[in-house]
This record gives sequence, structure tokens and C-alpha cells, in this order.
Amino acid sequence: MFPNFWTPVLPVAEIGAEPIAIELAGESLVLFRDAGGQFSALPDLCPHRGAPLSRGRVTESGCIECPYHGWQFDTDGTCTRVPFNPLSSAHLSKLSVVSFPTRVIAGMVWIFTGTENASAPQLPSSLLEPNDRYIIHHEIWNAHWTRAVDISLDYLHLPFVHRNSFGGELNDAAHKDAIAQISITSTADGMKVTNKLNTLPSGTKIDWHQPNIIVLNLDGMPLLPHFFAIPINTHKMRFMQVLLPNPGIGQSNFNFDDFFAASDDDRIMVESQVSEVSNVNEGYNVPTDEPSLRFRRWYYRAVKGKRNEVIRDMSAS
Ligand code: FES
Ligand SMILES: [Fe+2]
Repeated sequence: MFPNFWTPVLPVAEIGAEPIAIELAGESLVLFRDAGGQFSALPDLCPHRGAPLSRGRVTESGCIECPYHGWQFDTDGTCTRVPFNPLSSAHLSKLSVVSFPTRVIAGMVWIFTGTENASAPQLPSSLLEPNDRYIIHHEIWNAHWTRAVDISLDYLHLPFVHRNSFGGELNDAAHKDAIAQISITSTADGMKVTNKLNTLPSGTKIDWHQPNIIVLNLDGMPLLPHFFAIPINTHKMRFMQVLLPNPGIGQSNFNFDDFFAASDDDRIMVESQVSEVSNVNEGYNVPTDEPSLRFRRWYYRAVKGKRNEVIRDMSAS
């Protein structure tokens, strides 16, 4: 459901010496790190008898050891040991598993959701600062990941969904007959959207980077928020907020928890929507829906379309 993309999965700080079971785009994976701090993501399924490798342990040499019969796999997925069987290295290599490429960026572990052609991720420069500059919060939403991208691209939900918090002022009588001015610039990996009401001097800039990154640029905000909509499966996602504070901004003079809590309104809205975003020819649309329509067109072509091609190829062969 999310083929061949780089996506963060968890903050580095939450991954210790024990292997962790994660679900990413419907696949069960084990995530672990070796003594040198190298991360590895393998299918959470031993190729011997199907035991979950995440219930095993990481050995002193940095391999993951299956909890059932002790087969060991290194961070590349190569089988390095089968107890009680003196196998040649050629034989061992035939018992290996695939590994998914991993990286550490912006204080998070990223995984590439494919096993081939994992070129380096193209990321906004605001995600290339040292890891310890980022303040990270994540939570699980019972929603399809596309819903979280859709709401994050959408300026005009603020006066309604966030009526009782920061969106309240846009719902004021002063803006009752306001007209929204939304302009879009295409970029190599998504779009930049500028949003403004004709009754207000300033607005909001929203950047979308394929597949699942939103960067918000709010006038006067002392930090730069990044939102990630990470697919867990078809009805669950992880909403990760990654804040890059301006110099001089920290826990002592900014309430990060209040900032993170503002997305509760969004969670309630997207959890009430059924399944993935609909295609552009379903439902009614108006001119201010253009950012959402561009995302949907891309999703149906580049993600769903690619998936359908794979399924067609598989059934033809
Ligand atoms: S099931 Fe993993 S070693 Fe047997
Ligand atoms: Fe929102």
C-alpha cells in the first residue's frame, strides 16, 4: 500500500538494545540496532518456521537471533549461524532474508519500503539539522494515512475543526464574508501552497513533500513544524510531529505539549472519516479544494496506480 518510499518510523531515542516489532504499510517488520548503532529492518518472520524475530535477541556481534531455534541474521539479513549444523557460507547465504534500507535523519529512523533502487531520500533542508535539534511527538490515529495529509494541506478547516482553539479567530464575524486566496506552486516533489483570507494581512504557507511530509510555515511562529502521516495499515497510521525550534526557543519558553495537543481536533475529524481519501471525481469540489485535489490525483496515480500495476503483473505471470 506504500511501495518504494522513504518514511520515518520511530524516534531514534525510543529504540534501545531490544528488537522492536513494528507494522509499516501492512508489513510486519523487526527493527533492531547493532552495537555500532547501525539500524536494520527485516521481515518479522523467521524463514525457518515463521517465528517472529522481534521476540528474539540481538547478539554481541549485532545479529538478531530467532527465539525458536537460534538462527542468526545480520543487519543485511544474511544468515550467519544455524546452531548444530556446520553449514558452508554459501549454504548460509541461501537461508538469508531481505532487508529494508534504513537511515537516521532528523532524530528518527527511516525505512525504505522496498528492497531495490533505494536512492537517497530528497528532503527539505529543514530536516537536515543535527538530530538533537528536533522535538518529536507521535501518536497512533485510527485512520488511513492519506486523510492526515489531506487535512494538513487544508487551511479552511481551521475556523471549524479548531473553532475552540487557535482557529477561533478565523471564525470571527469580521471574516464572515471573507474570500480565501489560495495559490499553488508545483515543486519537484510536491507543492507549495500559500493560503490567505482577504480580510487578514498574513496567512499560512503549507509545503507538501511526497509522499507524506507536510511543512507548516505560520507567520510569527517561533518554530517550524513538520507533520508525517506514516501508514501502519489500511485503517491505522502514526501521526508524527517534528518541530524545529528557532534558536533560543526551548522547553523553558515554549509549551511544546500545548502545540502537539492542537492536533487532537484533527485526529477526531480524520478518525470519523471512512477509509482512504476518495478519488477526484467522487464528491463535490470547489476552487479552494485544489491543494487536496492535487494530492489525490498524485495518490491515485503514483501510489494506487503503481500497486495495481504490480498486482496485474503478478497475475499475468
Ligand atoms: S523458526 Fe526461527 S530458527 Fe526456527
Ligand atoms: Fe488542523
